[in-house]
Amino acid sequence: DAEPLVDASGRPIDYLRLSVTDRCDLRCLYCMGDAVRFVPRSEVLSLEELEQVAAAFVSLGVRKIRITGGEPLLRRGVLALARRLGGLEGLDELVMTTNATQLARHAQELRAAGVRRLNISLDTLDPERFRQLTRTGRLDRVLDGIESARWAGFERIRLNTVAMRGRNDDEILSLVAFALARGLDISFIEEMPFGASPGHDRGEAFMASAEVQALIERRYSLELAETRPAAGPSRDLRVVGTDTRVGFISPHSGCFCPACNRVRVTVEGQLLPCLGHEGAVDLRAILRVGDGAEALQDRLRGGIRAAAERKPARHEFAVPGATPPSQVARFMSVT
Ligand code: GTP
Ligand code: 5AD
Ligand code: SF4
Repeated sequence: DAEPLVDASGRPIDYLRLSVTDRCDLRCLYCMGDAVRFVPRSEVLSLEELEQVAAAFVSLGVRKIRITGGEPLLRRGVLALARRLGGLEGLDELVMTTNATQLARHAQELRAAGVRRLNISLDTLDPERFRQLTRTGRLDRVLDGIESARWAGFERIRLNTVAMRGRNDDEILSLVAFALARGLDISFIEEMPFGASPGHDRGEAFMASAEVQALIERRYSLELAETRPAAGPSRDLRVVGTDTRVGFISPHSGCFCPACNRVRVTVEGQLLPCLGHEGAVDLRAILRVGDGAEALQDRLRGGIRAAAERKPARHEFAVPGATPPSQVARFMSVT
């Protein structure tokens, strides 16, 4: 069964986002509601099940896996899992998205486990604002984490910044300067409508990428950067004369769906063909039938192919601030 995975619209799928926990030590306003309900342990995929899922994807030609959460470094055994995934033959890239709060402790082991690149969420450099935006967090831990990651020898580290009017729009240049001074990349993200987020008005906060880019170009010259293999949705420029990429992830103003190359698996083993839709294929049900390992891989591949056939052409997020807001009920924190 070596036919590579192609979806209903003919898009090759070679990138899996694998969520290893829905837990997080932060409560970012745009990412979680204020009453958080975590998935009970029995409903979470075990490390072995996560590996079985990853193996099925790699056997279908997936060459990049991004470990996500929640905060993936809060999952017990995640380093052992990374080592196992890193050993899957055919996988070119093992990468992770993290909030960096645990990196001071784990950066080196993570790199040694085979994780090549990190994306780190960072929306502000102001400690008080950081506490407001994350409802709980301490900026100094995150900055320490970033420092540790820099010394651990990752091939690249990218900051992810959700650009929000009235919250961090006055820090966009400082965040670019922060990245430049440390040889990091940075991508600015247009917020997407997941879950209801009390105390945060998405319409009011929305900033289109063009506006963020214009702001940056008042101080820095940007040129087109070459695309990376199995790249995600970030449209990448480079600060002229440097190695720093400044990217824009624009689900609203510049839909990247036609080039979509990825699907995601939630911590409950739900295979989501598209981030912007509710539809899912239940891989956990397949995993827990309980026959031999051979048959299991075949059945997983069948489930994955069924999901690819059902992958929608694009998301249908309404323009920010629209009423009624078109919203996906699930939060980003589970994917
Ligand atoms: P790279 O592999 O380094 O390009 O990372 P990535 O941008 O795919 O992943 P990351 O976890 O850093 O996510 C950054 C932002 O991109 C988040 O806001 C994600 O929600 C968004 N994003 C990633 N993949 C998709 C996708 O398939 N659809 C949509 N709409 N947004 C996505
Ligand atoms: N819209 C856009 N990006 C989001 N993230 C979390 N929630 C949202 C949202 N509603 C981002 C985080 C993190 C990445 C994995 O997703 O900032 O960097
Ligand atoms: Fe792909 Fe759906 Fe994301 Fe669009 S919204 S890029 S189709 S996962």
